[in-house]
Amino acid sequence: MNILLTGGSGQVGFELRRQLCLLGEVLAPTRAELDLADPQAVEGWLARHQPDLIVNAAAYTAVDKAEAEPELAHRLNAELPAQLAAYSAARGQWLLHYSSDYVYPGSGDRPWQEGDATGPLGVYGASKLAGDLAVEQSGCPQLIFRTSWVYSTRGHNFLRTMLRLGRERDSLKVVDDQVGAPTPARLIAQVSALALHRVLGPEGSEAAFPPGLYHLAPRGETSWCGFAQEIFRQAAAAGQGLAIAPEGVAPIPTADYPTPARRPLNSRLACAKLEQALGITLPDWRAQLALTLQELCQP
Ligand SMILES: NC(=O)c1ccc[n+]([C@@H]2O[C@H](COP(=O)([O-])OP(=O)(O)OC[C@H]3O[C@@H](n4cnc5c(N)ncnc54)[C@H](OP(=O)(O)O)[C@@H]3O)[C@@H](O)[C@H]2O)c1
Repeated sequence: MNILLTGGSGQVGFELRRQLCLLGEVLAPTRAELDLADPQAVEGWLARHQPDLIVNAAAYTAVDKAEAEPELAHRLNAELPAQLAAYSAARGQWLLHYSSDYVYPGSGDRPWQEGDATGPLGVYGASKLAGDLAVEQSGCPQLIFRTSWVYSTRGHNFLRTMLRLGRERDSLKVVDDQVGAPTPARLIAQVSALALHRVLGPEGSEAAFPPGLYHLAPRGETSWCGFAQEIFRQAAAAGQGLAIAPEGVAPIPTADYPTPARRPLNSRLACAKLEQALGITLPDWRAQLALTLQELCQP
């Protein structure tokens, strides 16, 4: 089986390359080899390589920059998934796609369920929602994993930014009224491989894991401030030389940290549907952070 993995250099894509090789040959073209912003290039690539399965981990993820580049965000996050879904639908093949907590309006404090009304607050969220809807409407056999607050040992993410700042400074102000679950890219890739193994398994086993939209995040919740404090607590315990202690992180409201794109205050995702369908218990976000820190901090 040939698997097209887009975004193989990204946080989730990099981890997927380690996991998907158990399912088939992973073709993960780099940006230099395939510019996903170019629909003709994508069409040509698909015609040449004829993948049997597509895992779309590519996205335009610069939330603030998206406000100034709505066309590019729309191309990557809405048109590209539509194009990949149309290819998959025409062949009756599976597509795995990733969505974001930013499709929700961020109100209230109840964890979002998969069937809840959406209401993105900015260009990025709107473009991701358009991509989800295009995949859903394509009719291809599909899995959409909607996740939140992704971090990993690579790339631009909150964990790496905090570790850098925590070595340089002894105090920081961090937003405390946005709540969600930090999700390591490794966990997303593990669950993705497990789910794909189920749906691609022996004939007739698909019913064991129905296609559709699933929330995917670790158990528990925190704010960005709480996440920062836990990073510094665990990193110090792991012997990292930090200038800052957890108490050095001061909570501030979102209003005191203005950004070009509005952020949802409530990014909680209810993940019971995924746990039940796969027969798994998602781990707690703190234990997942410890695993990632171990990998990042080992000499
Ligand atoms: N990051 C989060 O906090 C978060 C939260 C919720 C959901 N998600 C979703 O999770 C999925 C994975 O996110 P991530 O954090 O792994 O993303 P990421 O680290 O930003 O990676 C994005 C990937 O897309 C590729 N890409 C973007 N534009 C491209 C183009 N024109 N041509 C070729 N490749 C292009 C990037 O390639 P280069 O390396 O060449 O740039 C990179 O491999 C996405 O669907 C995202 O929306 C992310």
